Amino acid sequence: MEPKTAATLENLRAEMKFPDGHAMLNAGSLSPTPMPVLRAAETLRFEQATNTHEFYFNRADALLDAARAGLAAFLGGDAARLVLLPNVTWAINVAFASLAKRLTGAGGRRPVVLTTDLEYGSLQYALGQFADRFEREVVRVVDAGTWDEIVERFRGRIEGGQGGPVAAIYVSHVTSGLAWEMPVRALCRLARERGIVSVVDGAHAPGAVPLDAELLESCDAYGGNCHKWMMAPAGAGFLHVSDAFGPSLQPLVMSWGAKNRSLRGPGELIRSIENHGSYDRVPQMVIPDAIAFGRQVDEAGAAAHVEELRAYLVDRMTELREAMGTPWLAHRPGPGESAAVPMAAFTFPACGRKQFRDAMLRRNISCVVTRYREDEEIDDKVPDPAYDYFLRASTAWFNTRADVDRLIGAVPGVMKELGVGLSPSPSPD
Ligand SMILES: Cc1ncc(COP(=O)(O)O)c(C=O)c1O
Repeated sequence: MEPKTAATLENLRAEMKFPDGHAMLNAGSLSPTPMPVLRAAETLRFEQATNTHEFYFNRADALLDAARAGLAAFLGGDAARLVLLPNVTWAINVAFASLAKRLTGAGGRRPVVLTTDLEYGSLQYALGQFADRFEREVVRVVDAGTWDEIVERFRGRIEGGQGGPVAAIYVSHVTSGLAWEMPVRALCRLARERGIVSVVDGAHAPGAVPLDAELLESCDAYGGNCHKWMMAPAGAGFLHVSDAFGPSLQPLVMSWGAKNRSLRGPGELIRSIENHGSYDRVPQMVIPDAIAFGRQVDEAGAAAHVEELRAYLVDRMTELREAMGTPWLAHRPGPGESAAVPMAAFTFPACGRKQFRDAMLRRNISCVVTRYREDEEIDDKVPDPAYDYFLRASTAWFNTRADVDRLIGAVPGVMKELGVGLSPSPSPD
């Protein structure tokens, strides 16, 4: 007889719909929406579409307040300091805009924002756009052996005294390209002790890596997505802020809330950041439905399944690497305790990322190639061998060994089709 947890996960898996025979190994970009969550969204969208006036003026705020309260309880945060936004890109841009306003060079020395060499490409670009008010310095973490070493690198720069004063740190909780969990708790504590603002990109954390009040309290601005590992529909992100940083938040879009901010109570400060005109906020309204579904998944033993499946993926890829006699496909494990992260990255030859995705899709598999230095969008351009590339596969709770086997079976053919990995030069480090 099947153990009870496996049977329960199996039932829940039936609520996830994919194209026929598809191996979805990229929930890390965007999760499929479970059917109960989709139905809840459709019910609200029907109301929004048919009883527009009532929904817009009388229902929307209550639904969003309930979603904010439910999300705050799930994260261990404070609803009064939790801003619901379309995605983490938006959230981190709000944090950067607020930093830019707050950080002005004292005594002619431009303040510095310390970041890492593993940040998400579009947000490195965003930080660069705001950096006319401050310097941006990149701490190399990719060759650090441990979490402690990473923290020491930050401490060294903060205390070292070269360059302008460090006014803020910006770091991902789980990095995009290599799927590494970073020591954000220690980094935020370090920043707080020194009076430095901390901004965390938690795109991949909620629903994958445990969050709690201690972390959120030690961090000044924590942005996250609910449409990755929490399984809400696309369009559900958030920014949680500290008491101290909250009042300096700047809206990215000027709307009603921005105009009347000073006349309103503390809750309205948050609302003013959310208020950027009329748009579809149903994905945010169904966050509680996603949390309820996720709870069932957790109770059914998802964590153990995800860990086992990730280990299986790493083993199978290692076998394939040995069988092919290739220097590529080497697992790049993170520096810290990342057992919970449902993704793994493997070295891969330089290739067109779109061509890779398309070649996999033709085999009915969703999987991506990422880059270590994600500072430029080159999907359609000639691959640059100076960049380190990685095959990143997600092992979500709904994935199975059969999905992993499909990927392993497809990799040699995809490399051949793309004409990469044939000369045996390993990834430069
Ligand atoms: C670390 C990281 N930050 C930010 C993002 C952007 O997420 P979104 O497009 O939902 O804003 C991603 C997307 O995968 C990511 O991996």
